[in-house]
Amino acid sequence: MAQRVFSGMRPTGKLHLGHLAGALTNWVRLQEDYECFYSIVDWHALMSDYADSSTIRSNCSEVLLDWLAAGLDPEKCIIFVQSHVPQHAELHLALSMVTPLGWLQRNPTYKEQIINIQNRDLSTYAFLGYPVLMAADILLYKAEIVPVGEDQSAHLEISREMARRFNSFFGDILPEPQIMLTPTPKVPGTDGRKMSKSYGNSINIADHPDEMWQKIRTMITDPARERRTDPGEPEKCPVWDIHKVFNDDEEEKREIAHGCRTAGIGCVDCKKKLMNHVNRVMAPIRERRAFYEGRPDLLQSILREGAVRAGAAARKTMDEVIAAIGFVPRG
Ligand code: TRP
Repeated sequence: MAQRVFSGMRPTGKLHLGHLAGALTNWVRLQEDYECFYSIVDWHALMSDYADSSTIRSNCSEVLLDWLAAGLDPEKCIIFVQSHVPQHAELHLALSMVTPLGWLQRNPTYKEQIINIQNRDLSTYAFLGYPVLMAADILLYKAEIVPVGEDQSAHLEISREMARRFNSFFGDILPEPQIMLTPTPKVPGTDGRKMSKSYGNSINIADHPDEMWQKIRTMITDPARERRTDPGEPEKCPVWDIHKVFNDDEEEKREIAHGCRTAGIGCVDCKKKLMNHVNRVMAPIRERRAFYEGRPDLLQSILREGAVRAGAAARKTMDEVIAAIGFVPRG
């Protein structure tokens, strides 16, 4: 039996090239060798967006389209919306009973977000419990492997502690998940900072090729190359970081790097070469996105089927959890 993988993404809207290179490419690979559960975690989105939940629904659709476009295949993995499987909420409640407040109050991600996110009030009961819901997501499927980026490692550590703590009270029910740290290649946005929706610098998977070119054409480069005749340093150029992700032609990359250092190639030519590679990688992705965009019924049935399959696994665990706790059986 293949090992189980669980991962999730908050439905924040259209996904960008950072998501593609940092997570989705790896998720697509994993579906070949593991039993993968990939969840659009809408309850997690509500934790930060409760004051205006109006975008969550359409954001879920965009995320689903981008996942399918990237190559997640509903024949090979289980794709579902978190709220469609009510056992996430149920296990969250059960875990919350044994979660010491201190674990949550010490969570570095929590401390950082409470300070950094100024435009919403995150001093809620549920937001403090973000890692409890995340642990419930993972433990509900007894997932052995959780592919996430470094930013989620503190959360994953709490999930592991939560499994141990639950087991210490109720018996060996929930296996401790292992983190699979996804190497996240550096994908800067158009302004050179990390690509992020909140910075408004992202190149989205769904962007039309013309729009992508507009963004890449105007992307900042090594500031030393003010004029065409100024030499530059690839390692200081965000466009070069994107070459490293999308350009698989080692010889061409050597030429570009040399051309940059000697002012033998201009930034626009370098960007044109990059755009060719982006288009090559994006071609099948765009094709799949267009295919699914025109088929809302198919999308709906993918989620329905995903919820059925995830729900079966979730019920099995939840039955064991209820039995271990010792509540009156539901028989
Ligand atoms: N917290 C994750 C993020 O913000 C999303 C997430 C929710 C998740 N539940 C999960 C990731 C379970 C892995 C496993 O990216």
